[in-house]
Amino acid sequence: MTADQRLRTVLITGASAGLGEALALTCAQKGWRLALGARRVDRIEDVARRAREAGAEVYAGRLDVTDEDSVERFFDESEAALGVADIVVNNAGLSKPGILHERATADIRREVETNLLGVLFVSRRGVAALVENEMRGDIVFMGSDAATVPRPGQVTYSATKGALETLCTSLSRELEGTGVRVIRLRIGPTMSEFGAEWDLSPQALEERTELFRRFGTRDARHLGTLMQADDIAQAILFAVGRPPGVVIDTIDIYPEAPLGNAVKGLR
Ligand SMILES: NC(=O)c1ccc[n+]([C@@H]2O[C@H](COP(=O)([O-])OP(=O)(O)OC[C@H]3O[C@@H](n4cnc5c(N)ncnc54)[C@H](OP(=O)(O)O)[C@@H]3O)[C@@H](O)[C@H]2O)c1
Repeated sequence: MTADQRLRTVLITGASAGLGEALALTCAQKGWRLALGARRVDRIEDVARRAREAGAEVYAGRLDVTDEDSVERFFDESEAALGVADIVVNNAGLSKPGILHERATADIRREVETNLLGVLFVSRRGVAALVENEMRGDIVFMGSDAATVPRPGQVTYSATKGALETLCTSLSRELEGTGVRVIRLRIGPTMSEFGAEWDLSPQALEERTELFRRFGTRDARHLGTLMQADDIAQAILFAVGRPPGVVIDTIDIYPEAPLGNAVKGLR
């Protein structure tokens, strides 16, 4: 398969940490233009500085995907600086584990607004710019294996990532014939700041592991092995790098089980 060598303009939400930061720095090394947004301005400026040092042209700004005005302003300003983004990565997302009937309203609302409403605001604006300008492009969605293996203790998160699945299927149909491709990832556990707000005490970890065990959701993805953020960046680069005429619809990516974990005696 031939790689697509075009110079791309990549807009990444939540580029101040984790997977978004890694993707930004990998794209910078390719010399692609970057529009980087997140709420923590100091962090996004730091990622922008490193991307510029790697040779990229960068627009960096404050972005809160849950705020429609913030999304519009971010797109307007990045387009004025770099032109229309032909890769839009819906990366901003969060999860705070907890049993649904014990969760605070604010936590539930924050997860739904960030992981779902924000994705709709960003995708709407990103797609509009591409379609109105008759440009080819890619809209990338950072989904989760929680959509296919819904987990107890992450009801809201699993629901938002499940909804993302339907969103991607529906949107890809809507965009048929426009040259805009929808690329969905279902990502397993990956090193990032995702769990920064989680209770990681031995007791909390044991309780979560017990839930995974009880509901049979503790497989290779939850054996303590983690992927690196760059593994996800490389998967995205592969998908967006396919030439026109080819669509990578879904990428399931999760950690390989540790060696020595093989099922014995079934040959
Ligand atoms: N890591 C994993 O194991 C894993 C697995 C499956 C799926 N994912 C998905 O991958 C994506 C990235 O997660 P990550 O692991 O890289 O997490 P992370 O290290 O916590 O980074 C999340 C990013 O989202 C940004 N963000 C949060 N709320 C935002 C908002 N309202 N507006 C704009 N930016 C916002 C954060 O920046 P600010 O705080 O500066 O705004 C941060 O840059 C998420 O969608 C997540 O669901 C991750």
